Amino acid sequence: MRKQKFQWTHMTGGVCYYPEHWPKTLWADDLERMKKAGISVIRIAEFAWSLIEPQEGLFCFDFFDEFLNLCSEKDMKVIFGTPTATPPAWLTETYPEVLNCTLEGVPYRHGSRRHYNYNSATYQKLCARIVTEIARHYGQHPAIVGWQIDNELNCETSEFYSEADHTAFRAFLKQKYGTLDALNAAWGTVFWSQTYTEWSQIYAPRRVISNGYNPSMLLDYTRFVSDSARKFCKMQSDILRSYIRDDMFITTNGMFDRLDNHAMAEESLDVYTYDSYPSFAFGLDKNPKAPGALNDRDWSRSLIEVRSICPHFGIMEQQSGANGWFNRMEGPAPRPGQLTLWAMQSVAQGADYISFFRWRTCSFSTEMYWHGILDYDNRDNRKLAEATDFFRKLRTLDPVCGAENAAAFALVKDYENSWDTGIDSWHSRIASVSEYEIFAAAELNHTPFDMLYLRENTELADLRKYPVLVYPHPVMIDEQRANLLKEYVAQGGTLVIGCRAGYKDLTGKCVMLPQPGLLQELTGTDVRDFTFTSPNEEASYAVWNGETVETGVFNDILTPLEGTRVLATYGSSYYAGAAALTEHAYGKGRVLHLGSTFSRANAKQLLAYLGILEPFAAQITAPEGVEIVLREKDGKQFLFVLNFQPEAQTVTLHQEMTQLYDGTTAAGDVTLPPFGTAVYALN
Ligand code: GLA
Repeated sequence: MRKQKFQWTHMTGGVCYYPEHWPKTLWADDLERMKKAGISVIRIAEFAWSLIEPQEGLFCFDFFDEFLNLCSEKDMKVIFGTPTATPPAWLTETYPEVLNCTLEGVPYRHGSRRHYNYNSATYQKLCARIVTEIARHYGQHPAIVGWQIDNELNCETSEFYSEADHTAFRAFLKQKYGTLDALNAAWGTVFWSQTYTEWSQIYAPRRVISNGYNPSMLLDYTRFVSDSARKFCKMQSDILRSYIRDDMFITTNGMFDRLDNHAMAEESLDVYTYDSYPSFAFGLDKNPKAPGALNDRDWSRSLIEVRSICPHFGIMEQQSGANGWFNRMEGPAPRPGQLTLWAMQSVAQGADYISFFRWRTCSFSTEMYWHGILDYDNRDNRKLAEATDFFRKLRTLDPVCGAENAAAFALVKDYENSWDTGIDSWHSRIASVSEYEIFAAAELNHTPFDMLYLRENTELADLRKYPVLVYPHPVMIDEQRANLLKEYVAQGGTLVIGCRAGYKDLTGKCVMLPQPGLLQELTGTDVRDFTFTSPNEEASYAVWNGETVETGVFNDILTPLEGTRVLATYGSSYYAGAAALTEHAYGKGRVLHLGSTFSRANAKQLLAYLGILEPFAAQITAPEGVEIVLREKDGKQFLFVLNFQPEAQTVTLHQEMTQLYDGTTAAGDVTLPPFGTAVYALN
């Protein structure tokens, strides 16, 4: 989304509401209580297809007419969802070809959601029809401010194996390669006699022995899934656009894999929204109680990624209660303070709209344990009290609305490499470790960063915004990206890359070049040997300025070329003494090549070496357990201070600041309660 077409002008509070889940007698009271709590927008209707089209071709709007008129009366604004994530039973019974299938070709049946496939012409036609009918009917409705397309595209599954997908995959490949010869060459099908002689022999993945797929085929399949989801979204966006008022925005709620969210946002959306459930992150650390486990703080990493898609995003679903389905996913209720903490985490990272999921926990069906603000008994409770207090605080943050996030560096990513990690376990192991550890080093040391996706339309100016780019493992690289990086460094930028750089092309095949391939001119290094670290050896480490630093799970043994300085050498294994980290001057800039994966320790040391660690140390000193983020607008700076710990934490403000929640001034030591938050305007 190069230019975000819609931005909130005030910090806005919302909630997800399902009028179809409740007796109509509750509606007015619900809307009034929402308003009292500080909610001005609700999202509705995203699963209500069977209410609007109970029989094929019969469109009934009485239900939502009545509800929307009540919204107008109560001055409640609405984001209306297109209901295409949940086709009705009549539809899938009449047209079973719309169903998505398992890898074995077995259809997913009616009774859950997202069981359709994007490529069924029948489904596309039926979706186009209902979206048209809804947009025609409600496109000018005074209560509606925005539209949500479908719900969480690629959630539940991002794998599609219906007949329509096999056919569409062939068409996608024909368009991409033109001839079978080109496809065979790109995929290296000569291996194991996989050569295709007719397009009809090609399928989206089917079951193969030992999962021994062709990885280049899987990579194209991933591109195809992304393309399919994007087209499906664009089809709906085009329809909406031709009926709705200009002041209404179009969005969808993400963010899921096998989907180029950046491209989708650029071509179909006015603003991107995200569904934020930080308690999912508790599962990521093997031991949530281990020292240094980030748990819910890791959610900031996803929010930073969302910001790369859309700098001023919204949260369509912000966790407000315990999460759980009746048969999977059990989570604790947010502790007192955590509901606010998690919502402020979203605001800190760039959200200007916070909508909680959901107003009241559904008392029946699959999600009866996915708790909302209110519980089944509908009484006021501590979550409502906290949400009300959060919305009050949110209103005091109005001056922050639209503010940019400060970033000490950018973590560079691209879809090709990200998708390859979903296919290639060697790549995935190094990439997941490094991204997490770089994030951890930055997060624990109060060094906010951005994510920057290299895409076809990325320009030098996008890179030049950052003095330092860390591109952990550009395993796959092409000339265009290598040249862009060269220009960035030549003009004075600092580039840091890790191991396994440049050994694949964009088809996923390894290149027969000295590593790091197309990046060698930049790094001034040669990789003649490399290895995963061996479980039989001591932990891998390097020596940097006399200090021992843990390296990681994979080591490239670097040979510095002429003019390249060695900063650190390996201290362990058969390559002890060989270069582990080098620095190479290139034009006005420099390139650091770390031969290993990134660890928390080496990433911290690198950030310190580059002089970008703790950029706000002159303003605030905070313990590791507290997240520090800065947003800036019109020369004004706003410091978010978030205590993720269940104990009180003390920070020291080195200058006088104004606490936005209550307008008081503060300086010196300030103690935040357990899970407490504060937002300061730097005076
Ligand atoms: C997602 C969906 C919601 C709901 C919640 C809880 O984020 O968008 O419809 O299902 O999860 O499961």
